Amino acid sequence: MINIASPRDIQGMRVVGRMAAETLLLVGEKIAAGMTTEDLDRLVVEDTKRRGAKCAPLNYHGFPKSVCTSINNVVCHGIPTPKAVLADGDIVNVDVTTIFDGYFGDTSATFYIGRPSPDALRVTEVARKCLELGLAEVREGARLGDIGAAIQEYAEANGCGVVRDFVGHGIGKKFHDEPKVSHVGRRGTGARLRAGMLFTIEPMINAGDWRIEVLDDEWTAVTKDGSLSAQFEHTLLVTKDGCEVLTAREQPLRNSEGIASLLG
Ligand code: MF3
Ligand code: CO
Ligand code: CO
Repeated sequence: MINIASPRDIQGMRVVGRMAAETLLLVGEKIAAGMTTEDLDRLVVEDTKRRGAKCAPLNYHGFPKSVCTSINNVVCHGIPTPKAVLADGDIVNVDVTTIFDGYFGDTSATFYIGRPSPDALRVTEVARKCLELGLAEVREGARLGDIGAAIQEYAEANGCGVVRDFVGHGIGKKFHDEPKVSHVGRRGTGARLRAGMLFTIEPMINAGDWRIEVLDDEWTAVTKDGSLSAQFEHTLLVTKDGCEVLTAREQPLRNSEGIASLLG
């Protein structure tokens, strides 16, 4: 069963969505070569606390830190550590999930550290476009499979693999709820969307094959073939004629958006 948000829920989700979006904007402003992923964790913790909110990842099913930081071949759920120093040419996804007033807001982006390789640029820009194409499918009456199909078609046409093992998810008063939002699929299949549904779209796109493996820490997911991986995530509300992106940003994201055109 997929919940339909009440007006009160929608208001709560707008507030927490904006908080998560603003924390991600701050990450974009501060992120730089020489920082560690532990530094990113501290930045997210402090900004979240300042808002009177909490970081959802900490202790979630035993996750040891407050944000996920996934560098290069790491697909998702990278654990912040003082040992991981961001270096020129890296790509890193930072996945922020904020809790405020009982509601969850979940958003992530992949950032460029210095000058990206052609492969890093390709996989990151394909992932960015995949999220946009997924969002463009959302409206009352559309099907979940329409979202996956749009993402899969674009990624595979650009030589990239779409991760199957992790999916977008219903969200609201729970971090992960129904429905499961696959980033691969067939048009005209899957649950029908209704206005008031709340879920994330968060395609994980690999420069090579879609297969992943999970490291011995039981969290860090990496590409099986060692290729680069990128991801973008928004939390959204389904409306009659589209969607409201609850984690939309009021400014461009530094060290991510606009870099591709800058490099020509
Ligand atoms: N934020 C991730 C998502 O998009 C989930 C992270 S779970 C954690 O669903 F425990 F690793 F934080
Ligand atoms: Co999510
Ligand atoms: Co997330």
